[in-house]
Amino acid sequence: MPDVLILHSSIDGHTLTICRRLHSIIEAAGCGVSLLEIGVCGEDALRAADLVVIGASIRYGRHRPGVAEFMRRHQALLMGRPNAFFSVNVVARKPAKNQPDTNPYLRSFLRQIGWRPQWLAVFAGRIDYPRCSYIDRQMIRLIMWMTKGPTDPHGVFEFTDWRQVEAFGQNLVKALAAQPEQK
Ligand SMILES: Cc1cc2nc3c(=O)[nH]c(=O)nc-3n(C[C@H](O)[C@H](O)[C@H](O)COP(=O)(O)O)c2cc1C
Repeated sequence: MPDVLILHSSIDGHTLTICRRLHSIIEAAGCGVSLLEIGVCGEDALRAADLVVIGASIRYGRHRPGVAEFMRRHQALLMGRPNAFFSVNVVARKPAKNQPDTNPYLRSFLRQIGWRPQWLAVFAGRIDYPRCSYIDRQMIRLIMWMTKGPTDPHGVFEFTDWRQVEAFGQNLVKALAAQPEQK
């Protein structure tokens, strides 16, 4: 039974929710699955995995710096087994920016790390205005206003296409089934 390791970098918890959904899909397919915050993942966990999936959210134009550092530091271990990366951001709510090759954050992240994970995805995230600090709320409302998104300061807006998350999870399961175990 293959073992899948899912690592998340989530600030407000939405990327973690997506990771939990992937966890359920992969577990239902009969794989072992572990879910960890990326900052606590060591080499042993990576070595033990048959597939590593990393998900990270965007805040003010960037994934948390620790994500690129982790992917550079462990590039050889990650590339030595099936690996996947996905980014969560609200720009991806726009159909023209919701693919790995069209999402500006994912494109610049790939340039930053200098290698390309085997499977890539971009998911649109969630905006919870009431939970934001005053400054963040105003900043995001401004960005949303400029990009014709919702600006109601009392609103919670989830843009995630859960069918896209499901399809990504199923693709990973299929790909894993087609590969010989690495360990
Ligand atoms: C303070 C703040 C800044 C954000 N900056 C961006 C941004 O620059 N571009 C973008 O597309 N989304 C941005 N987002 C949207 C987040 O990527 C989205 O809310 C995502 O679902 C957050 O995932 P998380 O809860 O796992 O951190 C921002 C959200 C917050 C709260």
